[in-house]
Amino acid sequence: MRKRYTITLLPGDGIGPEIMAVAVEVLKAVAKKCDLEFEFQEGLIGGAAIDATGNPLPEETVEMCRKSDAVLLAAIGGYKWDSLPREKRPETGLLGIRAALGLFANLRPATVFPQLIDASPLKREVVEGVDIMVVRELTGGIYFGQPKGIFTTETGEKRGVNTMAYTEAEIDRIAKVAFEIASKRRNKLCSVDKANVLDVSQLWRDRVTAMAEKYPQVELTHMYVDNAAMQLIRQPRQFDTIVTSNLFGDILSDEAAMLTGSIGMLPSASLGSHPPGLFEPVHGSAPDIAGQDKANPLAQVLSAAMMLRYGLQEETAASLIEQAVSTVLSQGYRTADIMSPGCRLVGCKQMGDALLQALS
Ligand code: IPM
Ligand code: MG
Repeated sequence: MRKRYTITLLPGDGIGPEIMAVAVEVLKAVAKKCDLEFEFQEGLIGGAAIDATGNPLPEETVEMCRKSDAVLLAAIGGYKWDSLPREKRPETGLLGIRAALGLFANLRPATVFPQLIDASPLKREVVEGVDIMVVRELTGGIYFGQPKGIFTTETGEKRGVNTMAYTEAEIDRIAKVAFEIASKRRNKLCSVDKANVLDVSQLWRDRVTAMAEKYPQVELTHMYVDNAAMQLIRQPRQFDTIVTSNLFGDILSDEAAMLTGSIGMLPSASLGSHPPGLFEPVHGSAPDIAGQDKANPLAQVLSAAMMLRYGLQEETAASLIEQAVSTVLSQGYRTADIMSPGCRLVGCKQMGDALLQALS
């Protein structure tokens, strides 16, 4: 029997709708090839939701996501909403959907595409073969810890507070995901913390170390976050899987993405203890080029591939998409952000057409 999935699409803001349109066409093409059926439904989030409802994450969107098998998100945010109070900002919608769906594990691969290696700001010898998976904790740590806020002290001075906190259970569940992923990769896990200074990091390190007993095949190392930031540039190939907390993962995943020279190429997956997972490109909404058919849709398309692999366990369909991306790059198709001499400059739609061609 043909497998049927309900997918919630959250195109969001800026280039979101353009790149989402390409991903949907690609998914339809893959569905035909793999005998799958997708039912797409569209929800509001971010600035688009603020404009329509005054709320960056309407309850209706959360309900729609909860009832689906997977959520594919494009990007949120833009200048227009930058001066709104925090609870009304697009980012609050994104953090809200992560929390509402319990998406505690964020998988951010940083893979160098051989066809794009010269787009990296680092030397070819340093980045060639880089294949890192950053596993970032996504619903805890300093992003969500209490107390938080801007308070007024007795002297009338304002004091801003955020709290970096993790419980044992929160550490254990992300550590488990990371060990599982490392076991399916090259069996190397590096846990990144700041245990020389932070108590919360000491607990993190103790729990990750304890979890390692269940995964004797995985070689576990620990690294302080400042050193990790340096090692990622110095010798990125030493890393296989990295597990770290919410804030450190936010920073290190951007750094790892830049190694590849093409942040416009990188997808991510956010998973909880049960479906739906949420899948989105690492890059933002690029309001400066929105609506001009200049955006690179490949990270969105690769996010759809991650959705198939990690969200729906449809490995064959996921690989087909990844192969199509590799094919169009080898054929020389490039959007402006990854353009290099001798290649063929295309817009977002044309890149989509090339992908469909590669799939057919
Ligand atoms: C990311 C982004 C978000 C984060 C922002 C937009 C809230 O930087 O997904 O990495 O900090 O998690
Ligand atoms: Mg970030």
